[in-house]
Amino acid sequence: MKLIFIGPPGAGKGTQAERICKEYNTVQLSTGDLFRLNRKLGTELGKKAQSYMGGGNLVPDEIVIGMLNDEIIKPEYANGYILDGFPRTVKQAEALDKLLEELGDNLDGVLVLSVPADELIKRLTARRTCRSCNRSYHIIYNPPKVEGICDFDNGELYQRDDDQEEAIKNRLNVYEAQTKPLIDFYQNEDKVMMINGVGEIDDIYSSIKSVLDKIGNHK
Ligand code: AP5
Repeated sequence: MKLIFIGPPGAGKGTQAERICKEYNTVQLSTGDLFRLNRKLGTELGKKAQSYMGGGNLVPDEIVIGMLNDEIIKPEYANGYILDGFPRTVKQAEALDKLLEELGDNLDGVLVLSVPADELIKRLTARRTCRSCNRSYHIIYNPPKVEGICDFDNGELYQRDDDQEEAIKNRLNVYEAQTKPLIDFYQNEDKVMMINGVGEIDDIYSSIKSVLDKIGNHK
């Protein structure tokens, strides 16, 4: 399946995408993770992205679209993927449509996770992320077994620089202004599935699964 995950920062896109990938044997393509990897490797792309990401602003469309176009043609995405964090602007969505047309591919669905702002702030200010595999934890709602250590690969958990309150507020404003309009964009293509992103992680996953199983049955 080729899916897009849309939702405000902290909606649970990464948390849920990880579970879907495991159960449906698919792969996640997160533009945020790709930028963080490039930062870690000290590439020019990573340095450019950092100047926007730290304060919670979007990296310019040309840079993101170029990176996505280079990534999505890799063999690991040939049988499907979940796009997490891309597209984030109408220009990126148009570029994706063009690319899919060139590749002769179609999107199966756009999952939109909705969560109110006060809950997002609670989630992001207490999020910890693994330095090596990027998995997300929450010090209260979804803690690791050992404090400060990733359950999967023993990587060190750290607090992202854009998970500070000022940057979070900016990211929420950026989402409202630039990314939320994508819901209408994809409604016009009849691809949107709305998911309530508030509640237990397992219950939200069950709602997502029932939507995905419906798509699977129609293929
Ligand atoms: P990116 O890395 O994509 O960040 P984001 O969209 O802001 O999303 P997050 O990773 O913060 O949240 P999430 O929805 O994955 O939530 P999570 O599952 O971790 O982008 C970062 C930056 O990169 C952008 O600001 C921009 O600068 C740049 N960028 C990336 N893509 C770009 C693009 N296309 N164009 C331009 N710039 C781009 O969950 C959050 C927390 O909540 C965790 O602690 C988790 O444990 C907890 N949690 C999850 N679900 C629940 C639940 N149900 N109940 C309680 N807690 C929960």
